[in-house]
Amino acid sequence: MDRQEQPTRAWVLHPDIKSSDPRKDSGRRSAEHALGEGVALTAALPGLEVAGQTIVPLPKVRPGFLFGSGKTNELGNMLADNEVELVIVDGPLTPVQQRNLEKAWSVKILDRTGLILEIFSDRAQTREGVLQVEMAALSYQRTRLVRAWTHLERQRGGLGFVGGPGETQIEADRRAIDDQIVRLRRQLEKVVKTRDLHRSARAKVPYPIVALVGYTNAGKSTLFNYLTGAKVMAKDMLFATLDPTMRSVKLPSGRDVILSDTVGFISELPTELVASFRATLEEVLSADLILHVRDISHPDTETQAKDVAEILSTLGIGEDTKQIEVWNKLDLVDDASREALMIRAERSDDHFAISALTGQGLDDLLEVVSDSLTDPKTEETIVLPWSDGRKRAWLFEQGVVEAERQEEDGFHLDLLWTARQKKRYREL
Ligand code: GTP
Repeated sequence: MDRQEQPTRAWVLHPDIKSSDPRKDSGRRSAEHALGEGVALTAALPGLEVAGQTIVPLPKVRPGFLFGSGKTNELGNMLADNEVELVIVDGPLTPVQQRNLEKAWSVKILDRTGLILEIFSDRAQTREGVLQVEMAALSYQRTRLVRAWTHLERQRGGLGFVGGPGETQIEADRRAIDDQIVRLRRQLEKVVKTRDLHRSARAKVPYPIVALVGYTNAGKSTLFNYLTGAKVMAKDMLFATLDPTMRSVKLPSGRDVILSDTVGFISELPTELVASFRATLEEVLSADLILHVRDISHPDTETQAKDVAEILSTLGIGEDTKQIEVWNKLDLVDDASREALMIRAERSDDHFAISALTGQGLDDLLEVVSDSLTDPKTEETIVLPWSDGRKRAWLFEQGVVEAERQEEDGFHLDLLWTARQKKRYREL
């Protein structure tokens, strides 16, 4: 079948699970917005047509079919009437529920994790990104060997809706998956090592790293492009940026920094992906400053911010890295809210209201980025033996040498430098 010509008809179901504890429900994303995000995620996959969407109130999760039997039948009829081929269940499904529903409805099913994995595998561009997605997909697939996983052997994307292997095959498949995971992990280690080499080469360029993080579609790439003049794909497309992109930028203050655009976060990010993407987010781990970009015009902006903070803390990021919150898409909110946001932002040092599209508020932001990277400097005199020309050259390159005297035992250098420069010097 040619996927270009005949898109797969997909239906998005959002199970609206009521918590038994009403307090837990208060921070929940509204079902409508959650469904909206599920639809946007589905539309992010090429070759699919979203034929319809439904919120299914779910007072109680059933182990067998997720939904109760009456609901299961009712939904099955609706799906059949609409000639649906693929159902996205925007929530977690156990392998058993997935298999049972696939049988009952005669459709293929992807849960949220499966869907996100498919999108990631479609978007991954660098060798490392591809390997990481494959690893995540395999660990996920290993737990649910009712679906085929052969499509994962393909390098880029593709939907794996082909029928799964028989039950008897499962043990063999599991072993094959384990072997493949080991193989991938080895390849990944190699890629990471090569990248580490690049990074240590870059470490000699003593620019601070500024990392952009944020919920998917918050506007990170747009801001990145505005600041760097680069043409990173900025699209109204979820996860347009999967692999970290780095550029060096000269701030208006004259200071050079490395700006890093990263994968967008999403609520209920599959744990497989959190672990696998840790390496991708390493740039954030080593950042000197984190800009948390938020779509302030989004109705769920608070929940999104909470999700991002949670993922950052799961990854062990943020406790000792300075963070600035950037309230983006200011042009999209109404005049009164804009006023209020700007006043709120002005009152605080680490909140900025901007529009990455119109450029509003960016000068102030850049100034503060520059300021917050300015470390205090201390004076110090060091003695370098004559033979240490390389270190001496480095110090001059850094512009930290205030005065130099040549004495019997070598160069005496009066330095004015930051703790960071001192640390880098020691690592030379
Ligand atoms: P991911 O790659 O999914 O993480 O997305 P991202 O955070 O990099 O978002 P991106 O920059 O791709 O922007 C998403 C959409 O929002 C695009 O259509 C942008 O044009 C739009 N956008 C970004 N910033 C602004 C803004 O300040 N105002 C308006 N109106 N739209 C914006």
